[in-house]
Amino acid sequence: MSTPPRGKLPLPELIQMKRRGEKIVMVTAYDAPGARFAEDAGIDVILVGDTAAMVVLGYEGTTVPVTMAEMLFLTRTVARAARRPLVIGDMPFGSFQVSDEKAVENAIRFFKEAGADAVKLEGAGPSVSRVRSIVEAGIPVMGHVGLTPQSATMLGGFKTQGKTAEKARHLVDGALELEQAGAFAVVLEAVPAPVAAEITRRLTVPTIGIGAGRECDGQVLVYHDLLGLTEGHLPRFVKRYANLSREIRDALEHYAEEVRSGTFPEDEHTYEMADDELERFSSRRPSATSPKNQAKDSPTRPSKILSPSPESDPPLRKTSPP
Ligand code: KIV
Repeated sequence: MSTPPRGKLPLPELIQMKRRGEKIVMVTAYDAPGARFAEDAGIDVILVGDTAAMVVLGYEGTTVPVTMAEMLFLTRTVARAARRPLVIGDMPFGSFQVSDEKAVENAIRFFKEAGADAVKLEGAGPSVSRVRSIVEAGIPVMGHVGLTPQSATMLGGFKTQGKTAEKARHLVDGALELEQAGAFAVVLEAVPAPVAAEITRRLTVPTIGIGAGRECDGQVLVYHDLLGLTEGHLPRFVKRYANLSREIRDALEHYAEEVRSGTFPEDEHTYEMADDELERFSSRRPSATSPKNQAKDSPTRPSKILSPSPESDPPLRKTSPP
């Protein structure tokens, strides 16, 4: 079995955190900048969620269409950038429902091709044997019960789950079965707080809540929701910590206005040319009055704004953030 890269949060540490009563912080991310921001903020776990379908791929109100190829691509970009946080690849609809064998094959792809540290899959019931098979193949699995968006149609929409005593007991049983099958943690989504608290007490492995109250061992939110990149209706459980969509809109409108008015670019955004080179360049240029160019509406002197000289100019783009 390969050893995790140095600095990677060891998976068993999550159980220790639960025992110490230290909250586990998880967030979704879908690209390298998001992974770096999460890492620098000290986030413990990054989920490359199939919410990608809605928040980055443009599908409305469903996670079902996102494919294995898309999830592998996104997971790979996150795994490349995240050193310390555990990276969990979310198994999309269709990648584990058919059989245990198919689920293991696809989990291996997340682990081997995309560099995920673990996978997550939705549901209890038939998902329990999928979890057991994937864990037996040596890949850590995070479970997910409560509101499981891939089955939203069967659940009657994006609704709170476990609101009756019977349904709540069913959720507790499902979470226990996932733990017995080897899941290293279980996400509880849109579950009444007392039910989530009971599951958290009954499980040895950590629970990660989203709309499941404060007694879970950790919390997860969707990156775009918490940063205010998602526009329109948001579930009650989301807290916005920024309003980035407003900032992005303002910045893009400002840019468009400056390009149209000629205010951008300014001198500080342009590259110059040595006077003698410019002179030589100009003198070799066909004159605007030569018969060939008479019809053209070009200036006699070229603009001083030309490509950068490799000797003296700063790099076009820094390779790492400041
Ligand atoms: O896909 C996702 O982002 C998730 C979280 C909401 C837990 O499953």
